[in-house]
Amino acid sequence: MTIIAPSLYSADFANLKKDVERFNESKAQWLHYDVMDGQFVPNITFGPVVLKQVNKLTDRFIDVHIMVYNPSRIVDQFDGCRIDMMTFHLEAVNSLEEGYQVIEKIKSKGYQVGISIKPNTAVEELIPYLDKVDIVLIMSVEPGFGGQKFNGEVMSKGDWLFDYREEHHLNFLLQVDGGINKETAVIAKQHHFNVLVAGSYCFGNKDFSGAVESIM
Ligand code: DX5
Ligand code: ZN
Repeated sequence: MTIIAPSLYSADFANLKKDVERFNESKAQWLHYDVMDGQFVPNITFGPVVLKQVNKLTDRFIDVHIMVYNPSRIVDQFDGCRIDMMTFHLEAVNSLEEGYQVIEKIKSKGYQVGISIKPNTAVEELIPYLDKVDIVLIMSVEPGFGGQKFNGEVMSKGDWLFDYREEHHLNFLLQVDGGINKETAVIAKQHHFNVLVAGSYCFGNKDFSGAVESIM
């Protein structure tokens, strides 16, 4: 089964309630929430204050993607929000020890935990983390902005992770984020990704439900 995670980044913030309602009316299972700090990525989005309000508008699975340095500090700031999963970036930590601490911290909040890599980071760098996470998020664009073009070169990471997961009897989910639309979703699924983030393709579409169903 494919899980669709529309990214709130591409919502109309002047009509946020209406856009979350469009999400609720669709078959999308997860809401993807992109937190950017203006340092790890050049852009700034939103944090816990907005999520607390979004929490009132939907009871679906909340998938938080933190694109921030010093992820541990940010994790605490979300106390009081309803969150199901939180994913941090491997490139945002300075050591394996720090990475493990972030994982423990996210788990201590009762969330599922994910790790993500940017397009230029080698997939093998994930090895020490793979038995400790619930999901691996492969970026198919340079993180920071919605509406960018899908980078198909990262697709082989899905194949590699699929084989590694089989070989080591692990069960993390495989998620892809960036440039997903009707065409690229087909490619991603061929490379074993079963959680698809899609921002502009869903929220930018008049027919939100139709967009979701076209990539499921
Ligand atoms: C980019 C974010 C994505 C973004 C995806 O840094 O992590 O989640 O919202 O947007 P689209 O689907 O438009 O590429
Ligand atoms: Zn994201």
